[in-house]
Amino acid sequence: MSRLESFFAECALNVDGQLESLIPPSEIEPKNLHAAIRWSLFAGGKRFRPALVLAVGKTFGAAKEKLLRTAAVVEMIHTYSLIHDDLPAMDNDDLRRGRETCHRKFGEATAILAGDVLQTLAFQAVAEDENLSLAIRVELISEIAKAAGTPTGMVAGQQLDLEAEGRKISIANLEKIHQCKTGAMISVAARSGAIIAEAKETEIETISNYAANVGLLFQITDDLLDATQTTEVLGKTAGKDARAQKATYVSLYGLEKARRLAENIHAEACEELRKIERETSLLSEIADFILNREK
Ligand code: IPE
Ligand code: IPE
Ligand code: MG
Ligand code: MG
Ligand code: MG
Repeated sequence: MSRLESFFAECALNVDGQLESLIPPSEIEPKNLHAAIRWSLFAGGKRFRPALVLAVGKTFGAAKEKLLRTAAVVEMIHTYSLIHDDLPAMDNDDLRRGRETCHRKFGEATAILAGDVLQTLAFQAVAEDENLSLAIRVELISEIAKAAGTPTGMVAGQQLDLEAEGRKISIANLEKIHQCKTGAMISVAARSGAIIAEAKETEIETISNYAANVGLLFQITDDLLDATQTTEVLGKTAGKDARAQKATYVSLYGLEKARRLAENIHAEACEELRKIERETSLLSEIADFILNREK
C-alpha cells in the first residue's frame, strides 16, 4: 500500500467512526428514514472530501481530533447531494456506490427526507463540536453553507447543470457549472482544514486556489470516467452523461482534449502548492490521485 493509500484508508476508518456516532441508529423511529440515510452513507464511497479536510489540516499542523467532525460533516453534505442528484427529477439514476440508489430502495419521499436530514444534521454537528472554539464553529458553518448553497455553491451548480441538458453552452459556463456543483464543496473541505488549523490568511487563500483547481479537476475526471469506465468499477451507471445530453468536458472538448485540460489544471494545482512554506507532498499526491483515478 502506498503512503497515500494508507492515508485514505485511515481517513475512511476514522470518518466512518465519526459518522456512526452522528447518525441516529436504524432501531430508532422513524426507522425507515434512518435506514435510508445509512444505506447511502455506509455504501462505500471514496471519502475524498473528508480526506482533504484531514490532509490540509495536517499540513498546517491541526490535531486530528479537531478535524474529524468537520471531515464527517463534509461527507454528510456530499452524500445528501448524491441522494438528491440521483432522484428521478434530477439525474434519474438506479445505481450509486455499487448498490441501488436511495429512492429505488426506500422510495422518493424517504430519499428526499434522508437528504434533508443529512444536511441539517451536518450543521448541527458543527455547531455542537466542542473540540472547536465558538468563533471557528461559526466560521465553518458560514463557509460550508455558502459552498453547499447558492449563488456559487453546489445547489446552484446542480440547477445550472440541469438547465444545460441538451444545450450547447460556452466553455465559461461549463467551467462555472463544474466549479459550483463539485468545486465548491471540494474547496470548502480544503479551506475548513486550514481554518481549523488557524493557518495564515495568505495560506488559506493559496489553499483555496489549489482546491479550486482540484475541484474542477475532480469533475473533469468524473466526466472522463463516465465516458470511459465500466458501471461495475464506477458503482454507478456509466455512459449516462451522453444519454442525458449533459454538458460535460467530454461533450464539449472530446476525450483527448478533456484529458489534456485535466493535465493542465492538475499542473496549476501543484503550482499553487509551491507558494506554501510547508511540507505539501501529501497535497500534491492527492492532486496526482485525482488526475489518475480509475473510479
Ligand atoms: C461523485 O462524487 C459526484 C461528483 C461530485 C462528481 P465522488 O466520486 O466523490 O463519489 P463517492 O463519494 O466516491 O461515491
Ligand atoms: C454531481 O455531478 C455533482 C453533485 C453535486 C452530486 P454528477 O451528476 O456528474 O455526479 P455523478 O456522476 O452522478 O456521481
Ligand atoms: Mg448530476
Ligand atoms: Mg449524477
Ligand atoms: Mg458524473
